[in-house]
Amino acid sequence: MSGRIPEEKIEAIRRSTDIVDVVGDYVQLKKQGRNFFGLCPFHGESTPSFSVAPDKQIYHCFGCGAGGNAFSFLMEIEGYNFIEAVQALGQKAGIELPEIQDNQSSGASSDKEVIYKAHDFLAKLYNHCMVKTPEGSKARDYLKNRGFTEEVIEQFQLGFAPDSWDYATSYLAKRNYPLQKVAEAGLLAKREFDGKYFDRFRNRIMFPISDPKGRPVAFGGRILGEGEPKYLNSPETALFQKGKLLYGFHLTRSAIRMKDQAILLEGYADVITAYGNGVQNVVASLGTALTKDQAKLIRRQTESVVICYDSDKAGISAATRAADELLEAGCYVRIAKMPDGMDPDDYIQTYGAERFEKDVIGAAPTVMAFKMEVFRSGKNLSDEGERIRYIEEVLKEISGLTKAVERDHYLRQLAEEFSLSLDALKQQVFQFHKEGNNKKDKSPPKRDNNARKNFYVKKKLLPAFHNAERILLAYMMRNLDVAEKVQEEVGGSFNIDEHSAIAAYLYSFYAYGHDPDVSQFMEQLTDPNLVKIASELAMMDLNEDVSDKELQDYIRQVLNYPEWIKIEEREKEKKEAEMKHDFVQAAKIAMEILEMKKNLKNSF
Ligand code: CTP
Ligand code: MN
Repeated sequence: MSGRIPEEKIEAIRRSTDIVDVVGDYVQLKKQGRNFFGLCPFHGESTPSFSVAPDKQIYHCFGCGAGGNAFSFLMEIEGYNFIEAVQALGQKAGIELPEIQDNQSSGASSDKEVIYKAHDFLAKLYNHCMVKTPEGSKARDYLKNRGFTEEVIEQFQLGFAPDSWDYATSYLAKRNYPLQKVAEAGLLAKREFDGKYFDRFRNRIMFPISDPKGRPVAFGGRILGEGEPKYLNSPETALFQKGKLLYGFHLTRSAIRMKDQAILLEGYADVITAYGNGVQNVVASLGTALTKDQAKLIRRQTESVVICYDSDKAGISAATRAADELLEAGCYVRIAKMPDGMDPDDYIQTYGAERFEKDVIGAAPTVMAFKMEVFRSGKNLSDEGERIRYIEEVLKEISGLTKAVERDHYLRQLAEEFSLSLDALKQQVFQFHKEGNNKKDKSPPKRDNNARKNFYVKKKLLPAFHNAERILLAYMMRNLDVAEKVQEEVGGSFNIDEHSAIAAYLYSFYAYGHDPDVSQFMEQLTDPNLVKIASELAMMDLNEDVSDKELQDYIRQVLNYPEWIKIEEREKEKKEAEMKHDFVQAAKIAMEILEMKKNLKNSF
């Protein structure tokens, strides 16, 4: 599995890697007892059931069962193969690896590499054009006029695609890039009549769009000055799915974590200006409505989000839709208000970052309060009809709130403001709630608050022999003596196939002279299902020491189980004989059963 990376290197990387750091790059973790908990990056959830054990150097999700060590975490979350994961962690740990021809990478993944490289190459080329060449001067002046500093141009790798049909094409051809593939990725276009490739982005300011690791995977190209379309973006490809990425995220993630707050903006320019002026906990979706995936991505960094879109009609409706996605993902959401006709970029350029943080972000109302203001605007509340319409709109909105405290808070506010009876309002909200549920057939948002609890309850209900096998394996993974004893007495006779397989891997792991190390052990497991089970067993809470008596009990459970099955079958036969009134036969079977049970007891 490890290709041609020497085993000692892998070992050294493993030793100098802390899984908490590795996972921490993707998941906001909080310490709880010995372990860390966070929201599982592999399935949607709003309460943390994903745990990381620093002492064992493994992770396990009690919700979806995902599990493994630092290497398998990167494999799963980044889609790496083992070698790529080792390389990534080696780089992080500063451990040099020999150049490896990765024999696992198929044609498909080397195609992918080429496209990554092409994006990186073009990002640098366009940046060079903007910063260093005469063709770029128009673009330089334009950005300078908009207050973009050299520093942010560098940080965001902004560039310029000159007004030419073959600027990028000829550079790519000179470097032997496969133009067809590069065109398929949306970087070039193809002329119908002669099949020649030409530049897709012309006379545009280029905004590279990067994945969370900072690799450019797409571009947004803004026309220089006026013209249509204002932005030309890369099309969706396997490498670039715009619903899954956030603009600026690779630069801003750590600030979002640190401030424990994300500010969601609309445009590339907004992110860049905010970031450049010290408001660094910002991201933007990529020119479309915020998706569930993007909401989850944000939620994994922080619980607290302020949406700051344009204050025009389109902006308001986009903001409330984004708010709904974020609420569903489990965030606390506020919506900031901008003066009419301004976006965050304009605001910060005009009034400065400090006022932006204080007056816009700091003063942002909750989603509900924001919606109430929206309903109110344009209505004359001293007119009875309009007043009632307003109250109804608000009540409908309140009926959709999931938190009872929140519902109560706004109902009281409404009751007070309009001198209405709280009970009547509550009743109305209940009515709307029922109708809303019937109409949309909307099941309540799935919350796995009890994922961890349910997990234990579920496992407790397993048959005794099953539990015994799990506990034995869990001890065997941690303790060589136990493993040897079980090997001697049970060998491969576990009753559950997966358990047998894990035991076999363990015997061989120890036979190679390894010390107990669950993280290292899990690497031997090639079957993802076994990895899941092993990580779950590794996370089991066990007493440090196990008495011989206890071990013997578990072992007996395992060994006796097939006998118990036979006894059960005989019991059935006995019953059948009795039904047929064949009492002689029934008595004979009863004797046999007795004998079998006696043997079971004597076997230890
Ligand atoms: N957008 C897009 N395609 C368009 C228009 C907009 O993808 N044709 C996206 C871009 O991500 C853009 C965002 O929507 O950044 C917001 O659009 P807009 O407010 O029009 O642009 P700004 O970013 O404010 O650009 P500028 O300030 O340069 O006018
Ligand atoms: Mn703008």
